[in-house]
Amino acid sequence: MTAIDYFTESHSVEAVNGRMGPATDARLAHVMARLVTHLHAFIKDVELTQEEWANAIGFLTRTGQICDGNRQEYILLSDVLGVSMLVDAINNRRPTGATENTVLGPFHVDGVPEYPMGATITQEGGKETCLFEGTVTDLAGTPLQGVRIDVWSDNEDGFYDVQQPGLQPTHNNRGIFVTGPDGRYWFRGIKPVAYPIPDDGPVGQMLGHLGRHPYRPAHMHFIISRAGFDTIVTHTFVEGDKYLHSDAVFGVKQSLIAPFDPVPEGETKWRSTFDFVMHKGAA
Ligand code: BEZ
Ligand code: FE
Repeated sequence: MTAIDYFTESHSVEAVNGRMGPATDARLAHVMARLVTHLHAFIKDVELTQEEWANAIGFLTRTGQICDGNRQEYILLSDVLGVSMLVDAINNRRPTGATENTVLGPFHVDGVPEYPMGATITQEGGKETCLFEGTVTDLAGTPLQGVRIDVWSDNEDGFYDVQQPGLQPTHNNRGIFVTGPDGRYWFRGIKPVAYPIPDDGPVGQMLGHLGRHPYRPAHMHFIISRAGFDTIVTHTFVEGDKYLHSDAVFGVKQSLIAPFDPVPEGETKWRSTFDFVMHKGAA
């Protein structure tokens, strides 16, 4: 038995990684070995104190304890640390011109009704009514038929329906639309407003300690999907929003900022036009 078998500060990485069994799945072995390497380097870099270690364990414990079927504090942690956006960027590299992805967020729900084009997704009324419209094409500009457009937004108070069960109608500000041969979509909703991500838990406390606000700039969520094309998980952001440059979850991309134009005498008060471009992918 050599001295390296024992754990020392200088050989900490080798001591841990050396225990890995030879039959470990190759990808798992690689990811875990790199995780241990970076984690130990970080702890040595900051010379983590015993008290800081205990605080970190307490933080992770509280993060787990607040999680349930509706609340996913670990994803929120990933979001505010930029990890969600980084994983998304690495896994959704697309050619220039194709619509970019951004974070999914925790408020998407399955089983939402499909509506005819032009329907309104807002079931509780709303002052700042808005027409959302545009075209879905491929990279060559050909309109795409049969594209499923799944949309959701907050209400004028900054809450999704699932955050206010009993207060908001089920599926308020949600809907699914399918494009016809012209590739066009249009539906009515309300102009979304900026809102804070859930900040009553450990992630919110962490943001407070770091002098960071919890707000996301106003946005409409979209999932654009069609067989044979990369699914686009994205938002359109309200042009001019005061949080565009400080989104709590780093979701804003310049190409996703959409105009919201007042429509004098219109059926809706606002109109937002945004065209989506799909990339023929492996999906
Ligand atoms: C959202 O846009 O719905 C969202 C994204 C990340 C964290 C919280 C909310
Ligand atoms: Fe959102």
